[in-house]
Formats: sequence, structure tokens, C-alpha cells
Amino acid sequence: MADAVVDTVSSVPVAVVGAGPAGLMLAHRLGRAGIDAIVVDTRTRREIETTQRAGILEADAARDLVETGVSDRILREGHEHEGTVLRFGGRPHRIPFKELVGESVWLYPQTDVFIDLADARERDGGTVHFGVGDTEVLDVTTGAPRVRYTAPDGSRHEIRARYVVGADGSRSMCRNLVPEDRRVRYGKEYPYAWFGILAEAPVSAPELVYAHSEHGFALISQRSESVQRMYFQCSPDESVDAWSDDRVWETLQARVAGEDGFRLNEGPITDKTVLRFRSFVQEPMRWGSLVLAGDAAHTVPPTGARGLNLALHDVKVLAELLLRALGGAGDAALDDYQPRALQRVWRAQNFSHWMTQLLHTAPGGSPFDLRRQLGELDNAVGTRSGRTYLAEQYTGWPASSRG
Ligand code: PHB
Repeated sequence: MADAVVDTVSSVPVAVVGAGPAGLMLAHRLGRAGIDAIVVDTRTRREIETTQRAGILEADAARDLVETGVSDRILREGHEHEGTVLRFGGRPHRIPFKELVGESVWLYPQTDVFIDLADARERDGGTVHFGVGDTEVLDVTTGAPRVRYTAPDGSRHEIRARYVVGADGSRSMCRNLVPEDRRVRYGKEYPYAWFGILAEAPVSAPELVYAHSEHGFALISQRSESVQRMYFQCSPDESVDAWSDDRVWETLQARVAGEDGFRLNEGPITDKTVLRFRSFVQEPMRWGSLVLAGDAAHTVPPTGARGLNLALHDVKVLAELLLRALGGAGDAALDDYQPRALQRVWRAQNFSHWMTQLLHTAPGGSPFDLRRQLGELDNAVGTRSGRTYLAEQYTGWPASSRG
């Protein structure tokens, strides 16, 4: 394959594999500085737009979308949340982010972030090839890496670049280009997954509700006035077919029930998916002329809503360093990438893992485990330091680091 004839050859400073938010935001940031990038993705634009993903953006990430000129739609259609609710023992406990740490988060689905970025690339004349096949990344240990792919019409193309960025998500093929004996993979599997639904129903609560119950975790989120996103803890091998709408509502209602009489507004369920998750980090994040960004290098459980934010932070740092590297500083400029990205990644790994074990019930857990977990929840919401910790972690940290 590597030496087969291609129909076209393009040259560009940066080739990006993966047109999710990380890849597109990187191309956008580089484009603003006058550096061209070509982005390829195996998925069609429609496939990406119709995949349900998480929905919380840190205030910094929301500001970046507006200030870098991607779009200000988030300000009109997103919802700023100044707090979130933890429910346990049948009662709500609000964590007022704004009051505690002066920050908020934005409820704005990842699919909308993607649409804004894809539209901005089109508007700005950026090149993105969706729906490509047979993607190959070659020569990453040289200063002239290449990406080859087959276009939807069957023609073969080659992109010659100075750097290739692997932003190809949690099932990344780019990360496998770091040789096995030179990479380390850190990870953790969980004995549970999320059953996610989209429902045509009115909003049930003004802010997100993370609910702990002896039956397991549930999360009440929103998409619009009339469409809601909710999740409940299930087994990783759960089958969607076993769940009628009635059974889903009964499960969700039981997990949020309490002495305050809280009930969810029900309606027809239009989407049901089992979402498996894990914690994962691969090091190094750079190998020769290949740099990994976002889920390709690290994934977190969805409980702390960190995934998209981490990806956007990676490419903020990476864009700055790539500009320096291409501006004459060379590869040495990229040495800072991994330490700056990973500091936030490991903080987020810890927070996501902590939120996950705090709120889910482990299969086979004992009555002691349950009571200890309620004690931990009580510490988290019942002490000022606990609330502040949660608020600070959930709303993110200023770019790169906080002292
Ligand atoms: C969502 O709205 O899909 C969502 C929100 C918060 C999370 C995870 C998912 O922690």
C-alpha cells in the first residue's frame, strides 16, 4: 500500500487525522495564525453530527469558541449553569459553582461544538475530508510524515506534512504508531456502564442532577426545552432490547426518588444506547513527527464531564507549540506539550475516577460500602472544602496549570 500510486499529492504544514472537536479546533487555531492544516476522518459529517456525546463545556472552553471566532451560537443556544445538584439519601444538595469559585459551566452538546467547528472550517476555506477510507500514516519518525487515504469516490490521495496530529478518538489507530516497546498505557476498567436515553419531555430540573441511590447512579441532563438527555448505571453487557420505555422510566424514577417528592417529566424515548467507558492514558503523546491529542491519548469516564474539555485544552497548548515549532524553533518547541497537557489530564483522571466511584454502586458491594459512600458524599456537600473542591474540579482549571 505504502508505495502504491496516488491520484493527488498535497503539501501542508500539518495533517490531522480525526475531525472531531480536537482535530477541527486545532485546524481552526492554526488557520487563524495563517498555517494550513488538512483534516481527514473516516466518518461522514452526518455520522459525527448524529452521534450523541456529552454536553458540558468549561467556561474557558466556551469563551475560546467565541473569542477565536468559531461561533457565538453557544451564547444564544447554550445554557450557563452556575451550579449542579448531587442527590443522595433522597435529597438534593446543590453545589453553587459561581459562589464558591467564581466560575460556571455551559450546557452545550458536543455535537453542536462539532457543527460550529465544521461550519467555521467551511466558512474559512479550511480543508476537511470526511468519509475517507484506508487511512495510513507513514514516516512519522522522519521530518516528512505522510497521510494517505481513499476518498469516497475511490481515488487515493497523499498529504505530505511536517507534522501529523492523531486526533482520532478513543479507538485511535495513530496511537498504535508509537512502538509497543516505547509506549506505556495506563488504564482502568469499571464494572458498570451508562444506559443513555434521549426523551421528548419537558425539563425536569433547571441544572444537572447527579443522583446516587442504593439501586445505582443516574444523571439528569438536558438538550432543549423539549428534549432531555438522561443516563442510568447499568451493566457493561446490558442489551438495549431488554429495556422498554416503561422499564427505563421506572428505573430512572426509582433512582431519583426522595422525601422531597422529586419526579422526572416523562415522554417518548427516541434513543437508547449503552455507553461503556474506561480511564486510559498513553504516553508518550509525541513520537517523532506524530503528536496525539484528545481521546486518542487519554479517555476519562463521563461522570466528571471532563473529556471534551481536556481535548480542547490539549489543542490549545498544541496549537501554540506547533506555531513555535513551524516558526523556526523546530521539534524542541514540542517538548513542552506532554508535560503541559498531562498535568491537566491526570488531574482530570483523578477527578473523573473520584466522581465515578463516589456515585456508582459497585456490584457485590456490602452495606458497609454503601454507608461509607454516603459518608463521602456528605463530606463532599456538607463541608465548605468539599463543595469548593468539587466546584473547582468540575469547572476546570485555568489553561495549563494552576499553582
Ligand atoms: C450530557 O449532557 O450528556 C452529560 C452531562 C454531564 C456529564 C455527562 C454527560 O457528566
